[in-house]
Amino acid sequence: MNHHPIGIFDSGYGGLTVLRSIVEKLPAYDYIYLGDNARTPYGTRSFETVYHYTLECVQWLFAQGCPLIVLACNTASAKALRTIQQKDLPHIAPQNRVLGVIRPTTEKIGMFTKTKAVGILATKGTVLSDSYVIETSKFFPDTEVYQHACPMWVPLVENNEHSGPGADYFVQKDINELLSLSDKIDTILLACTHYPLLADKIRKYLPDGIQLISQGDIVADSLADYLQRHPEMGRRCSKNASLSFYTTDAPADFDAHAGIFFGRKVKSAHTSLALV
Ligand code: DGL
Repeated sequence: MNHHPIGIFDSGYGGLTVLRSIVEKLPAYDYIYLGDNARTPYGTRSFETVYHYTLECVQWLFAQGCPLIVLACNTASAKALRTIQQKDLPHIAPQNRVLGVIRPTTEKIGMFTKTKAVGILATKGTVLSDSYVIETSKFFPDTEVYQHACPMWVPLVENNEHSGPGADYFVQKDINELLSLSDKIDTILLACTHYPLLADKIRKYLPDGIQLISQGDIVADSLADYLQRHPEMGRRCSKNASLSFYTTDAPADFDAHAGIFFGRKVKSAHTSLALV
């Protein structure tokens, strides 16, 4: 059978918010989702560790037949993507491609702000990489980027505490800390694929006039555009409208949580990432 799915990767569940938008936009393709739940979170880990974990997952997705992979994780996109694209890909799979979520987002983010001041909420790893500041300055040199790391948000989401009262404390605190950096901020980007689950709570603490942006639709539009500009890649990706889900941790746990992120029930299988 012609099965060459598009691989969607995240450290855990967050990438499912991106996959959801991608499947809505491009329903004909086959997709395989890999969540590295056994080693999540990535956001607090070193460059070397995130790179090593991400490369292992990319190689596994290639071994499943994926010609194209989207790193639906800002932390992996910030810390591992460039090295994988430049150093590893030419050796391990020169015909294949790995895309991230930061570039498509920074190509658009300046269009949302009128005051030319954007706030970024992300993991510590993404913030420390400065990727959003560097990339935004390429596309929108007159837009200021203010960043704030929210180290408690991924654990709240991964532990299904995002709607509980504990989340209110951290959401309010982090929003206030971000907004204290500049009174010009009129746009806040959720630069972590886990954060859309906290969107209702975040809106509760946002002053009027500040808009909240999630990445799912931006990344989906960008992937559609990429496939249009690279028809040879579009042809290599198979189109049977299938979806499969893999986790490096327990499938029962994954299935119990994944639906909240993906918007419908998910049935996953376990992988140890062995390349056999
Ligand atoms: N979902 C990942 C991101 O977009 C981060 C989660 C983690 O820390 O593992 O950055």
